[in-house]
Amino acid sequence: MSVTHAPAADADVLRRQDPELAEILLAEHHRQSTTLQLIAAENFTSPAVLAALGSPLANKYAEGYPGARHHGGCEIVDVAERLAVQRAKALFGAEHANVQPHSGSSAVLAAYAALLRPGDTVLALGLPHGGHLTHGSPANFSGRWFEFVAYGVDAETGLMDHDQVRTLARLHRPKAIVCGSIAYPRHIDHAFFREVADEAGAYLIADAAHPIGLVAGGAAPSPVPYADIVCATTHKVLRGPRGGMILCGSELAERVDRAVFPFTQGGAQMHTIAAKAVAFGEAATDAFAGYAHRVVANARVLAAGLAAEGLVVTTGGTDTHLLTADPAPLGVDGRTARGRLAAAGLVLDCCALPHGDARGLRLGTAAVTTQGMGEGEMGTVAGLLAGVLRGEVEAAESRERVRDLATAFPPYPG
Ligand SMILES: Cc1ncc(COP(=O)(O)O)c(C=O)c1O
Repeated sequence: MSVTHAPAADADVLRRQDPELAEILLAEHHRQSTTLQLIAAENFTSPAVLAALGSPLANKYAEGYPGARHHGGCEIVDVAERLAVQRAKALFGAEHANVQPHSGSSAVLAAYAALLRPGDTVLALGLPHGGHLTHGSPANFSGRWFEFVAYGVDAETGLMDHDQVRTLARLHRPKAIVCGSIAYPRHIDHAFFREVADEAGAYLIADAAHPIGLVAGGAAPSPVPYADIVCATTHKVLRGPRGGMILCGSELAERVDRAVFPFTQGGAQMHTIAAKAVAFGEAATDAFAGYAHRVVANARVLAAGLAAEGLVVTTGGTDTHLLTADPAPLGVDGRTARGRLAAAGLVLDCCALPHGDARGLRLGTAAVTTQGMGEGEMGTVAGLLAGVLRGEVEAAESRERVRDLATAFPPYPG
């Protein structure tokens, strides 16, 4: 399913009233449609999702849950939230869904609040190996309030070190185990993590922020049957508004709901919840399933293309929408490469690598696949990226070639 043109009427209103801000929005629209968005966490939402985000639901205060609000006048937004919950439950086969978390981090915070007490021990993928800030960073509430023990990935294979997970779980008896990553390109073995959690008497929290859209489209295995709580974002491959979501069984439903509101959040953002409902509706279609599978096919071709150009692709490839790679064999480190590529119109992130302290590159295919690009274009991108890093293609020439490519696949045609 490709997205169609964004509504112009609202842009005109803004241009008349606040040309200064309108210029900024237009500049960002121009940037997004003339460069390549290879950031693994980004995508282009549909105009329908954008319409819900820009709707009068943005005006409504709605603390609480449908049928039990702390404000009057919630009878319409209650219907929107019930619809979002019902669609999320159906899409992921979950007994309970909370669609109120304002972000992926808020969802993780609420999951911890539902299951843990400050000082509890939590086993999670270490940040240098691809864990998220909420998985124990000292700069984040998680590292400040809980005792995190880190497992890692194998330095050679880049694969999660299952032996280490099991050993650490036996040794530390964590209250919860977190599986999920910002940069792991392979499917996570949820059955393995369930088994280890059961042996240790721990809760299993799957932070599926990245792959949840692939799960929705049937292109990745679901953590729902295995995890006590699944946390997710709605804005990555899932292609919804920026936001979070929690899925769990009925027995944890009340604890999760109370952990979101009133424990960690205030009023629900009803425009975003409506936009989540729209995105869940889109994700339930055959067209979205086709999209999710194309995202993975594109990522595989991109990974193979980069490997053929001499970059070292972590784990030798990908099962998902993302891949990570070390550009060192091309004579450039990750940070320098990211800057050089940004100047050349190729927008992507740095990431940790399984070995050593050097930074690598993280790329994803969710956005370019929404634009309609396919395997042929992925080959072109791999060649261009390597050419820029080797210094064979000047930034200005690359920007021009990228602009031509992006213009042929506009994110919002029309
Ligand atoms: C695994 C994981 N957890 C949590 C988050 C946090 O999401 P947000 O940026 O919406 O807070 C991310 C974001 O990329 C993520 O990848």
